[in-house]
Amino acid sequence: MCGIVGYIGTKKASPILIDGLLKLEYRGYDSAGISTMEHGYLSNMKDKGRVKNLYNLEGIDSLEGTIGIAHTRWATHGKPAKENSHPHMDNSNSFSVVHNGIIENYQELREFLTNNGYHFLSQTDTEIIPNLIHYYYTKLEGSNDKFLQAVHQACGDLKGSYAIEVLCKDEPETMIVARKDSPLVIGVGKEENYVSSDIPAILSYTKDFYLLNDGDLAKLSNTDISFYDSSLTPITKELKNIDWDVSACEKDGYEDFMLKEIYEQPKSIRETIGSRLKKNEKVNFEDIGFTKETLSKFNKIYLVACGTAMHAGLAVKPLLERLCHIPVIVDIASEFRYREPLIDANTLCIYISQSGETADTIAALKLSKKQGATTIAISNVIGSSITREADFTIYTHAGPEIAVASTKAYTSQITLLTLLTLYFAEVSESAPTDVISDIKDELLLLPEKITEVLKDDSKIKEFAHKVYEEKDIFFLGRGTDYTVSMEASLKLKEISYIHSEAYAAGELKHGPIALIENGITVIGILTDPTLVEKSVSNLQEVITRGAKTLIVTNQEINQTNYDEVITIPNTNPFISPILSIIPLQLFSYYISKEKGLDVDKPRNLAKSVTVE
Ligand code: F6R
Repeated sequence: MCGIVGYIGTKKASPILIDGLLKLEYRGYDSAGISTMEHGYLSNMKDKGRVKNLYNLEGIDSLEGTIGIAHTRWATHGKPAKENSHPHMDNSNSFSVVHNGIIENYQELREFLTNNGYHFLSQTDTEIIPNLIHYYYTKLEGSNDKFLQAVHQACGDLKGSYAIEVLCKDEPETMIVARKDSPLVIGVGKEENYVSSDIPAILSYTKDFYLLNDGDLAKLSNTDISFYDSSLTPITKELKNIDWDVSACEKDGYEDFMLKEIYEQPKSIRETIGSRLKKNEKVNFEDIGFTKETLSKFNKIYLVACGTAMHAGLAVKPLLERLCHIPVIVDIASEFRYREPLIDANTLCIYISQSGETADTIAALKLSKKQGATTIAISNVIGSSITREADFTIYTHAGPEIAVASTKAYTSQITLLTLLTLYFAEVSESAPTDVISDIKDELLLLPEKITEVLKDDSKIKEFAHKVYEEKDIFFLGRGTDYTVSMEASLKLKEISYIHSEAYAAGELKHGPIALIENGITVIGILTDPTLVEKSVSNLQEVITRGAKTLIVTNQEINQTNYDEVITIPNTNPFISPILSIIPLQLFSYYISKEKGLDVDKPRNLAKSVTVE
C-alpha cells in the first residue's frame, strides 16, 4: 500500500527521498512523487508508474531543497494517474501533503471546501487535506504556531485513517506530521530527521526512532522534534533503538527478496524461539505472565487475522484445542469485525499480523477490547499499531519481510503460536508432560530440519518447469496438511496468477472432484500418520481420473504412484506445517520465475493492507 518518506536536515533531500521510496517499493504502488522546498516555493514532481521514473522528470536533478516529502501511491480514490499522485497541493500552492489511508468523509469536506471557493484537480480524497489546512491557516491570522494549529484543526475534521506529512511555503524550516490508524515513524539523525511509514525505508540513515500513536502530531525542524496529542497538548516520547540489520533489508546476493526470505527460515525460526524455549526447561512467556487462574477464566479463544497470518492460526488451532481443551475459533478479521462475535471478559482474542498494520485486524482487536476480551498481538514489526492496542504483545522476531508474499513470517507465526500453546498447557497443567516435551524437542530441531529441506530444490524446480503453463492447480490434505494446502494455494495464486484451490481431501467427493480431468495438477501433502492412508485413497481417486501429482511427505508411501515426491524430515505432526510449506513456497517461487513475473511485487497486491 501507499508509502511515505520525509527528510528535514542539511543535505539535499531529493536523493534521500527517492532512495527511501525505492526501499518502499515492496509495499505495492502505482505512482510516486516528491515535494521539496526550493528557495521559498514548493516544488512538486510526480507521475504514475515506477519510482525510477522520477529520475526522468525534468528538473528533478536541480532540486536543491533540504526539506521534502515523498510518497508511493496505491490507488483507492481515482485511477493511477499523474493528477491523482501525491504530493497534493492546495489551490494557492502554499501547502504540500502526502497521505496514507482513506478519508471517509471526503465528499462532505470537498463540498464544504467547494462552497468556500476551493477547486480540485484530482479525484482523490487526499486533495482536500492541503486545502482544508489552507482554509484554517488563513483563519488563524495573527495566532502563534499557525501551521501546527491549522494541521491540527484540519485533522480534527478528518474521519477515517491517515498518516500525513505537510510542508508549508511560509514556514520553510518546519515539517508537520500526524497519524491516525496508519503507521508513521520518525527517525532521528544528527541535525536531521527522517519520517517514514516503514522503518526499512530509513534504516540505513538511523536506528533511533520515535513511534507516533493514533492522534499524535509532531513538528519537526533539523534539530528539534515536538510531539503533541490529539488535543494539541505537548507530550514526550521515548526514543527506541531498532536493531535490525540494514543488510536484512537488502537482497544479499539472492535474486529476489522472496527467495532470500525462504532461505532465511532456519535463522528466523531460531530467532522466534529465542530464549522462550531451552532444552529441558519450561516455555518462557514472562512478558505475558498468565497464571492457572487467568487461563481457567477463558472459555474460548479466537485467533483472528487475514490471509497468510490467518492460515498460521488455522495451523495451530488443532494443537491449541488438543492441549488446552478450550474451543478455538479461527476467524478472518474482515468477517469477524462485522459479525457481532460473541466475546466477553472470558474470551481470549489473539491477533496475528506480520506488519501489525492490517486495518481489518486492528479494527477487530479494538472491537474485542471494547467487549471486554483479553487481547494478545502477535506481530513482526516492533511498535506497529496492533502492538500498541493489545493488552499483551509478542514478537515473531523473523526480521524484516520485504517480499509481498509472506513466507518466513508464516513459519515464525506458527512457531510462536505453538510456543504460546505449550506455555498455556504448562501453566494450566492441561496436557501430559511427555506430549509437551516431544513438541518442545521437535521445535528445537526445526532450524536444522529446515536447512535439510532447503538443501536441494532441484525436484521442485523441475516440477515447476513442467506445470508452469497450467491454468488450475489443486492442493489436497487433511488436518494440519489441509491448512498447509490453503497457504500453498494462496502463495501460488499471489505470485503466479494461476487459479488454485485447496480442498480438505475428504471433501473431494462432495463436489470438487468434478473439476478433476485428464492432465490436471494435484499437489498432496501427507505428513500426519493418523490420516495418511485416508489421504492416499483420495489421491488415488484423482490419479484414476488422470491427475498429475506432486506429493510432499514425511511418511512411508508407495512413491511410484506419483509423478514426483518431495520427502521432508519427520517431525511432530502438529508442527509439520513449518516444514511442509517450504517446498511449496519454493514451488510458487519457481513457477513465478518460469512465467517471468515480478516475484516480490505481484500485481494488485500490497505488503501491508492499511485500508479495509
Ligand atoms: C500473503 C500475504 C497476505 C498477508 C495478509 C495479512 O502472502 O502476505 O495474505 O498475510 O495481508 O498481513 P499481516 O500479516 O501484515 O496482517
